[in-house]
Amino acid sequence: MNDMSETAGGATTHTLTVTDNATGQRLELPVRQGTEGPRVADIRRLYSDLGIFTYDPGFTATGSCESKITFIDGDEGVLLHRGYAIEELAEHSDFLEVCFLLLYGHLPDKAEKEDFEQTISMHTMVHEQMRTFFSGFRRDAHPMAIMVGVVGAMSAFYHDSTDIDDPYQRMVASHRLIAKIPTIAAMAYKYSIGQPFMYPRNELRYAENFLHMTFNVPCEDKPVSPVLARAMDRIFILHADHEQNASTSTVRLAGSSGANPFACIAAGIASLWGPAHGGANEAVLNMLREIGSKDRIPEFLKRARDRDDPFRLMGFGHRVYKNYDPRAAVLKKSTDSVLDELGVRNEPLLELALELERIAGEDEYFQQRKLFPNVDFYSGILLQAMGFPTSMFTVLFALARTVGWIAQWKEMIEDPVQKIGRPRQLYTGEARRPFVPLDER
Ligand code: CMC
Repeated sequence: MNDMSETAGGATTHTLTVTDNATGQRLELPVRQGTEGPRVADIRRLYSDLGIFTYDPGFTATGSCESKITFIDGDEGVLLHRGYAIEELAEHSDFLEVCFLLLYGHLPDKAEKEDFEQTISMHTMVHEQMRTFFSGFRRDAHPMAIMVGVVGAMSAFYHDSTDIDDPYQRMVASHRLIAKIPTIAAMAYKYSIGQPFMYPRNELRYAENFLHMTFNVPCEDKPVSPVLARAMDRIFILHADHEQNASTSTVRLAGSSGANPFACIAAGIASLWGPAHGGANEAVLNMLREIGSKDRIPEFLKRARDRDDPFRLMGFGHRVYKNYDPRAAVLKKSTDSVLDELGVRNEPLLELALELERIAGEDEYFQQRKLFPNVDFYSGILLQAMGFPTSMFTVLFALARTVGWIAQWKEMIEDPVQKIGRPRQLYTGEARRPFVPLDER
């Protein structure tokens, strides 16, 4: 029996005794305490010593890795990146600084910040041949479909940064992904509306440059509103990382086989697309439009409570947060001020959303299940006011989350205990049986 205590972090505080009542065998499992969060039972010896697997569909009680990047306390509504609270980062930092923090573990000093910004700006253009790659898509393709395809195709364009065993190539791939994802996202949008692609402008800041590529046209290159650029940057910060969610776990699992980073991020984008995850911001706006007016809210709440109706209140509930999502709180605050700055008064969807939140908050069903607004509840209203079509909402989420995926992918590759992810199962199919020839069936 191997002592695996050397290969996992967190102090072992005590053991958990597992007794197999069928055989009388006992096993002492080490219990580890991380810096924050619940204790973790290290079950790796459960199968080798007792021949037992664990069963946890949806990973509701399973830690899939050790990580130093992001911490969430769902009961308290706390989100920390490398120990810094999301509210403070949203207020005082900017997106590229948060990217540096997620990737390297500390806030950059002045020289590091300048150097990082310079490096990212040097990678913003995409290979010119990628422009022709876009023309293969139908004009009415969903921009997320384009994102999955084009980001995956980056592995065909940037061969010199696909060797995952070379730390330099890993770093170049990270920088390329962070720098090029806004260019690709803006191109997906431009393609869908039939406008010419805009080249990046490296004197602009990250969010500003993205808004320039999205909303400017070659015949009229207007300055980007600083209010919008700040709002965009804040939205990027709020979506930058979120621990081991579905898309991040997808990226880690894809990467565990040794797949190149561009392919892994494309897998993450595919996973994010679903309405239970990043696609929820698009679904929230569609739902608010469908509700239409405040007097119809009770009807939709009734549907949400009905177990036989698949309808769910989009933008409500979270696997981890059983309290107000701290990102939603920041967004709710900025939505007001941005709409004000944009001169949008009495935005009907915002009024409807506020009323929906109020009524749901007083509803016993939502109270009992601790269903609060999540990050997607307010982001759609803000993005719509900024001029984005609904179909771009999840693309913006993917753009911002790319850094989180890369930081987590990089951490996994550099983790000495890393091995290919290979979950097992509880098999309930047919037991072994003899093959039946066709004429005897
Ligand atoms: N509307 C109505 N009922 C809900 C909702 C909702 N939005 N969310 C959860 N419930 C109910 C659910 O029916 C269940 O009730 P019961 O115990 O009676 O069977 C209970 O609450 C627990 O729900 P669950 O499905 O077991 O919870 P989960 O952790 O598996 O699901 C979730 C989390 C986010 C998928 C779910 O809350 C949901 O579908 N929300 C709407 C979609 C959404 O807004 N997603 C964005 C998540 S935040 C952004 C991101 O991280 O991607």
